[in-house]
This record gives sequence, structure tokens and C-alpha cells, in this order.
Amino acid sequence: MHALLQDVAARASAYLQGLQQRKVAPDPAAVAALDALDGALPETPAETHEVLAELDRYGSPATMAMAGPRFYGFVIGGALPVALAANWLASAWDQNSGFYNITPVTARLEQTALRWLLEILDLPRGCGGAFVTGANVANFVALAAARHAVLDRVGWKVEADGLFGAPPITVIVGAEAHPTLIKSLGMLGLGRSRVARVPADAQGRMRIDAMPRISGPTIICVQVGNVNTGACDAVAQVRERVGADAWLHVDGAFGLWARAAPSRAGLVDGVDSADSWATDAHKWLNVPYDSGLAFVRDAHALSAAMAITAEYLPTDSAWRNPSDFTPELSRRARGVDVWAALRGLGRSGVAEMIERNCRQARRFGAALSEAGFEVLNEIALNQVLVAFGDAARTQRVIAALQADGTCWCGGTVWQGRSAMRISVSSWATTDEDVERSIAAMIRVANATP
Ligand SMILES: Cc1ncc(COP(=O)(O)O)c(C=O)c1O
Repeated sequence: MHALLQDVAARASAYLQGLQQRKVAPDPAAVAALDALDGALPETPAETHEVLAELDRYGSPATMAMAGPRFYGFVIGGALPVALAANWLASAWDQNSGFYNITPVTARLEQTALRWLLEILDLPRGCGGAFVTGANVANFVALAAARHAVLDRVGWKVEADGLFGAPPITVIVGAEAHPTLIKSLGMLGLGRSRVARVPADAQGRMRIDAMPRISGPTIICVQVGNVNTGACDAVAQVRERVGADAWLHVDGAFGLWARAAPSRAGLVDGVDSADSWATDAHKWLNVPYDSGLAFVRDAHALSAAMAITAEYLPTDSAWRNPSDFTPELSRRARGVDVWAALRGLGRSGVAEMIERNCRQARRFGAALSEAGFEVLNEIALNQVLVAFGDAARTQRVIAALQADGTCWCGGTVWQGRSAMRISVSSWATTDEDVERSIAAMIRVANATP
């Protein structure tokens, strides 16, 4: 075991170092070579070092360098060294983190991480919290609590009786709501299409003047951090408009982290007036996948939607039982990586990382517009949208940049315009990486007809 773990540490370390030099996207030949891992079911055991060597030989070159400093696709953080190392240690612990009585260390670390998160994000300190796979499931979990609470207030027990014959719930979302939020509504029986959609402004923010009047059980979902522009809905104004009775949910997969950075916090003013929040730790907190977080002001509403009991399960505990708040019973100890990232960075380290990525995004915007390309969004956070002329040319530039390999950006269509998306979300991105990437973008764009 010892030699094997030393072997894997050396291989992982070499892999991460290699990301500085190699192209960001995997070589097509390396992807084709994955066939080597796709053989027949082995009939007999293999030597463990050889298993690892095979994975490294064929797997490592076929990865997208998301852990590296110049991957700007989607919204993808890297993995802070301390969080990666803690994740390895937690894997060695192999704790099934459902119950305090069985795995006290991971339950305690989650409880502490939750307290720290509420402090750093400045959310109500009594919130319940769930450590889940990502913002998608965090939205699901928070909206399950919302569904419980708004129906409970009108005397309907949704967990017991389901939605057949239940009083209707009005659900309001922005036109720019993330598809995973819509999917979560569908999974909860609230309907993907049966929602009122509020039109958006030029940055993708919900138009307050276009919000419907509401009455009866209502859930309204706002967003901080539009996946294209980074824009944040005006949460304080939404709360004022809908009143205290509506359940206000915030999808803040990455934008909620603006709250942790003094110069950006104004973007999410009033976000603490909500009832529930979904965010990711694997994006801007830079812990390894998978790691999302749901917070619910009324912790009881969350546990009412999620907790179970059974004779064989040690559910009685004076401490927080992690599985009282998540859809899963058995799962990995996600809170360990989160605890380690917060312990390692501290409040100032988190703020500096968020501020730095936002400053780097502004630098991308300024340099690309200076070079004559069109920046389509106001760069308030970490997202930049840039067009290189018409849709066809923009697509060609994106493809050429991906092939060049200095950095990696994806494409999108923003309000009818084809654009390249630059998302600056990694702890590993230095100012030098940004300058190197800008030079590559300009070089490639100018060489692309
Ligand atoms: C606003 C928003 N919500 C939800 C999600 C889904 O997050 P995840 O893929 O981590 O589940 C994303 C992903 O980019 C997002 O930007």
C-alpha cells in the first residue's frame, strides 16, 4: 500500500507539473489511444502498480487540463493543493459520512465547514446546509425544502402525501435561469414548463418591472452569476417586490462567492434576504469534484424534506447528522475538502482569489477590446463574452484557439450573438497566464480568416 500510494503521488505530481507545458485540450491521438483501457473483462487479478501505470499512461494524456491555469471553459475551478491533498486523505479514511455516531470526524468537519461558509458568505448563521455533488443537486435540495415549507404553511404534507391534489404552487424563474434549476423543478414535480418566466435585461438579469403579481404558495428563483455574463439578479429588489411570504431561492453556483470578496459583494446585495441558496465549492472555492452546497434558512424545512429514520440506523445524535440534509444516505466526506480549503485560505485568501479572478477577467476584456474585438457583456464578475466578427468567424477562432492549445475557451450564443466565453475561476491562473492567453487569442484571431 505504501509504495503504491507513493507511486500515485509521484504520478499525480508529474501530471500536474506537466499541465504547464502541454496543450490544454487532449491530443486526438491520446483520446484514440483510450481504446487500450477498453479491453475485455479481466479474468484474473493484475499487479496494482501496473493498473496504475496503465491509467496514467493512457488516461493522463487524454484529460482536458481543467486543473491547469489556462482552462477558461464553462465555469470550472481547479483544485487547491490543500483541498486535493485533503481529498486524498479523506479517500484513505473511506468514511461513509451519513451519521455522526459512525463517522464523527467527517460529521464534525462538515458542521464546522458549514459554520465557516455561512460566515464567509455572510448568510444567516442558523441555516441548515447540505454537502452535495454540485449546484444542480443543491438547487434540487433547496427547492425540496421550499416545496415542503410553502405547502406546509397551507396544511399540506408533501413528503407524506405527494403532489396529487396538493394546492398549486406558483413558481417564478428568470428567463436566464440555468437549465439545471429548471431540471430540479421537474424532478420535484413542480414542472419544467409550468413556471412563470420573467424577461431578462441585456445582461441577463431578471427585469423587476416585468415580474408578475403573486398570491398563494409561491417559490421564486433568482440567480447570482449568469453562466454567460456573470450578471446577478437584484435580489433585494426582488424580495421587496414579492414580500416576505414567498420563498426566495438563489441559484448562486459561482456568483454567491462575490459575497466573500469585499469589492464584489455589492453585486449580491440583499442576497441574505433569501430563504435558500445553492452554490458550488468545486467552482470558485476550487475544491476537487464533486462538491456543491445548499443552504436553507429554516434548517427544519431542509431536514423535513431529506431526513429518514430506520431501526438499524443510528439517527439519534446530539450532533448534526449529515444525511439528515442530503438526498443520499451513503456518500463521500465532501466536507473534508471544503474544510481544508477554508482552513488553508482563510477569509482573506478566499477574498483574494475571487478578487484576482475578477481582475483577470477585466484584463481579458480590456486587452481584447483594445485589440479590436467586441466584448459583449459588462464584466462585473469573472465572465467575459467576446465576438470575433460574425458567428462563423467567431466559431472558427474558437476552434483554432482550442487547437492552438495555449488556453481553452468554449463558445456560446448570447442574445443572438455568437461569442467565445472566458471564465476565470481557477486559483492556479496567474497574471502571466492571462497575458500568455491574451497573446494567443489575439495571434490566433488575427490569423483566422
Ligand atoms: C448558475 C448555475 N447554476 C447551476 C449550475 C450547475 O452546476 P453543477 O454543474 O456544479 O451542478 C451552473 C453550472 O455552471 C450554473 O452556472
